[in-house]
Amino acid sequence: MSMTLSPIPQSLAEARALDAADPLSDARSHFSLPEGVIYLDGHSLGPVTHAALARLDRGARSDWGENLVRSWNNAGWIDLPARMGARIARLIGVAEDEVLVCDSVSVNLFKLAASALEVTPRRLLMAESGEFPTDQYIVEGLAEAVRAESARIEPAALEAALQQGGVLIKSVVNYRTGALADIGALEAVAREGGARIVWDLSHAAGVLDLRLGERGAVLASGCGYKYLNGGPGAPAFVYVSRSLANQLCTPIRGWFGHVDAFAFQEEYTPLSGVGRFAAGTPPILSCLALDGALDVFDGVDPGLLGAKARALGGLFLDRAARLGLAIGSPRDPMRRGGHVAILHQEGYAIIQALIARGIIGDFRAPDAMRFGFSPLFLRYEDVWCAFDALQEVLDRESFRDPRFALRAKVT
Ligand SMILES: Cc1ncc(COP(=O)(O)O)c(C=O)c1O
Repeated sequence: MSMTLSPIPQSLAEARALDAADPLSDARSHFSLPEGVIYLDGHSLGPVTHAALARLDRGARSDWGENLVRSWNNAGWIDLPARMGARIARLIGVAEDEVLVCDSVSVNLFKLAASALEVTPRRLLMAESGEFPTDQYIVEGLAEAVRAESARIEPAALEAALQQGGVLIKSVVNYRTGALADIGALEAVAREGGARIVWDLSHAAGVLDLRLGERGAVLASGCGYKYLNGGPGAPAFVYVSRSLANQLCTPIRGWFGHVDAFAFQEEYTPLSGVGRFAAGTPPILSCLALDGALDVFDGVDPGLLGAKARALGGLFLDRAARLGLAIGSPRDPMRRGGHVAILHQEGYAIIQALIARGIIGDFRAPDAMRFGFSPLFLRYEDVWCAFDALQEVLDRESFRDPRFALRAKVT
């Protein structure tokens, strides 16, 4: 489905008019947002929803506090990772039984790449240069562990590399630039060469209409704590196509992936399907927060999410371009995800100066200021006002205050 993007507003009044016509405008009321804050960091840590807070509270006080171990059955904890997987499946465009919530993205990439390596003709693990560090580290560490080759591929050489076979770990949306990969085109090349792609959906799930199944993707993992708003350290999810799942063996064989965990058999027999990628006991409280957070997506067309995120990003980039700022993201909205990067040598201090005014974005060394446009709670008006603040911080050079130069551990 192709979505038409809203025209780029040229004034605060035009921005407000777009808010008045926004089909997603009701979703904002489901979030608990602090007063005086414009939150442009949902690509790093999504904000909390009322439903997530309620689900956590009930889960902790009643299910855990009162019902104790009985809640594995009575509160349905045991099936929660698969039930949440089914909810996420709709958002990423695959079948309900092809997704499971488990572990972190880093661990899931390891499991998926290791198992995919066994069904490709060439023992080669690849990541692009400029890829998120964890993806590169997993490729190199896994290659050492299983004695396979590893390669860091320049983006321009990606298609040629896929024609040689092997396993590529690749982000759908680049964490720094927001550039969007062409899933269908890369999968077609990979199929020709017998290669497998493990997609990292961290900056894509919950903000774009991914339609992974239709585009031929078979393996993926994504974050629960970014656009899915599951809370700090929320568990991630894995997607494995039914067509492939039973041919794959996870290298982390845990009892939760066994066909009958509570039979306590000494021989390992994996579950059929994506369930075999479960390792150990799921973090139930974190799962409850994520499950509550997913309520806000109920009935939401993923196409609307992508169209609004891109329109909000387009507004910000349009004003940045008119101010002559260095843009580190694709200008074509259909080639970007939900966040944009503006490049500036003093980017860290500028972000701190904005945060001091309640405009929260983040910084990625050496020079990228990232601004994320979560479509469920941000208004066009917010983005217009956030850019006004950026312009003022730059005009007045208020970022030169020495307190904004102090680097914190998390940037
Ligand atoms: C593209 C990408 N992949 C992976 C991760 C890390 O995921 P996890 O912390 O769940 O291992 C991040 C975190 O920001 C990310 O941006």
